[in-house]
Amino acid sequence: MVQIEKIEKLKSDLKIKWTDGEESAFNYMWLRDNCPTAHDKDSRHRMFNILNVSENLNIKKFEINNSGYLQVEWSEGDHTSLYDPKWLRNNCYTLKNKNKYISPYELWNKDLKSNFNTICIDHDEILNSDEGLVKWLELLHHKGIAIIKNAPVKEKSAFPLLNRISHVRETFFKTPFEVINIPKPNNSAYTAHALRNHMDLPWFELPPGYQFLHCLVNSASGGDSSAVDGFAVGEYLKNNEKEIFDTLVRVPLKFRDMDYTQESHRGFHAPAISLTKDGDFHDIRFSIATMDVLDCRPDLMEKVYKAHRRFGKLLHDEKFQINFRLGPGDIYSFNNRRILHGRTAFDPNSGHRHLQGYYMDRDEIIGRLNFLKKNS
Ligand code: OGA
Ligand code: ZN
Repeated sequence: MVQIEKIEKLKSDLKIKWTDGEESAFNYMWLRDNCPTAHDKDSRHRMFNILNVSENLNIKKFEINNSGYLQVEWSEGDHTSLYDPKWLRNNCYTLKNKNKYISPYELWNKDLKSNFNTICIDHDEILNSDEGLVKWLELLHHKGIAIIKNAPVKEKSAFPLLNRISHVRETFFKTPFEVINIPKPNNSAYTAHALRNHMDLPWFELPPGYQFLHCLVNSASGGDSSAVDGFAVGEYLKNNEKEIFDTLVRVPLKFRDMDYTQESHRGFHAPAISLTKDGDFHDIRFSIATMDVLDCRPDLMEKVYKAHRRFGKLLHDEKFQINFRLGPGDIYSFNNRRILHGRTAFDPNSGHRHLQGYYMDRDEIIGRLNFLKKNS
């Protein structure tokens, strides 16, 4: 194991040299704030208040004690802190910031169709084993898509499977929402029309992170499904059409809920592509059906429509998209803020089509995966 070789006291940091040659800086405030005694052992919340030390906080004395721990005597509060070198190394922000960022996302295009079985998992495997559950969560997190096979076809029967992850995200559509052809539909999904590739609920401040479409019956002709990796299309634009990409990242679009059954007017401005602190993709907002009357700066409108049309074209390009047909007992599960989904029109007189839809927040997927993989 890597150990502390040398410690040097600087003006506001302890500089540690490790036996493998790496160097770390540990700021005094950071060290005091993260003293192992700072947290309540049951609630695990920080009881120590960093406001209770002055900005002149200093180190009176430091040493490596007999157990190999770094012992720090503070200039204030009559307090001594003990740090496990292993903990310091694992939480070292100098090294963390030097690490090259590795994206968790495995981007895909039409070629995924020839490996379609790699994104399919058996329903009972998930229900009965943590390995199955991890496999599903990893597909959802890394590829953004998974198709569950052999689920029951009874109404609401996806709950036990979803509850292996966590609770669902409720919306006014209710859970599950019924994707079925109805008279006077309040949403184009509740018709027999084709749906262009889209995300659901882009007008929310935080649209649902994941969506699960459970197929109960699909005997009508038509109604085939599509999926496209919006992050892969974004990556293509970033590398090949930078001006379009920059417009999609920089200019907020406007989305609005136009559901006539609602006594609420929900709307939100957000760019088509948003990025994380590491410059990775965070989410995609794209829905031709529910983009509102745009109100961008007048000098940007021309550019915005050019970028929006180009993005939309690529999001429906054969090169990026996969097409498949859901059968009874399939659950099409995907990252709603990455994967755009659609369907072809169906003939309601030729048979019956009924899907039940569920949403879940992204925190639930990633949090559960972290727990099962014992990541922090
Ligand atoms: C939806 C939807 C797809 C389908 O309900 O949001 O996109 O295949 N449905 O009916
Ligand atoms: Zn949809």
